[in-house]
Amino acid sequence: MKVLILNDPEAAIERAGDIVSEAVRARPRTVLGLATGGTMLPLYDDLVARHDAGSLSFAGATTFNLDEYVGLAPDHPCSYHRYMREAFFDRVDLDRARTHLPRGDVADPQGEAEDYERRITEAGGIDLQILGIGRNGHIGFNEPTASLGSRTRIKTLTDDTRRANQRYFSSFEETPRHAITIGVATILDARATLLLATGEAKAEAVARMVEGPLSAACPASALQLHPNATIVLDAGAASSLTLRSYYETVHPGGQDSAFD
Ligand code: GLP
Repeated sequence: MKVLILNDPEAAIERAGDIVSEAVRARPRTVLGLATGGTMLPLYDDLVARHDAGSLSFAGATTFNLDEYVGLAPDHPCSYHRYMREAFFDRVDLDRARTHLPRGDVADPQGEAEDYERRITEAGGIDLQILGIGRNGHIGFNEPTASLGSRTRIKTLTDDTRRANQRYFSSFEETPRHAITIGVATILDARATLLLATGEAKAEAVARMVEGPLSAACPASALQLHPNATIVLDAGAASSLTLRSYYETVHPGGQDSAFD
């Protein structure tokens, strides 16, 4: 794992923005895996700013989001469809026909999940998978004990995750119990992964991901198996790492180095 530690959240966002921009410029027809959550909002703002400045175009790109709540229609104010339109899709030159999220409101969500996995395969797989991390170590909605060999399917959300996401809904009861999420194995199939975490609330999950045992108890730890996984952190999210000074020596200021 390439662990890049930046001083503050703003620098971490900019570093993640650099990595996404380089991938899109290197391969304009890139297939991006996209994530939602509060952490990603400033990253989308950063990418939109680069697009507005004329230095970045998504016109040739294809996107696949990680997940969607079961039961929410695309126009529901708390759906990830809506989040993506407002945070990113409506603000850049992406071809909307090539943006994909699983539909949470279909009669057969499991069939939709299988179809979504097929669509990713037909697109040639994901070039760069962007990820956040849940406080319990989830990636996408792959909750603790999710199979590390899993594919896109329906997952039951933990109460911890529902409490964390309750802020978007009117109450805990209103917060969905299930989501369609791409699997851990689907994530590991991406040619590169980029996980962004900011703030001390993520420090423990980050330490378990990077330095803990490879375990379904922390699904993000599966990234230890990925040959091209980059983790971008601010000081808060890096604060529980035992080998922090080693990562800072290898990647001073969170920059690339010849030898990881
Ligand atoms: C949700 C999403 C994840 C995201 C996580 C963290 O559960 N399914 O993809 O990484 O939240 O969100 P936040 O960035 O708001 O802490």
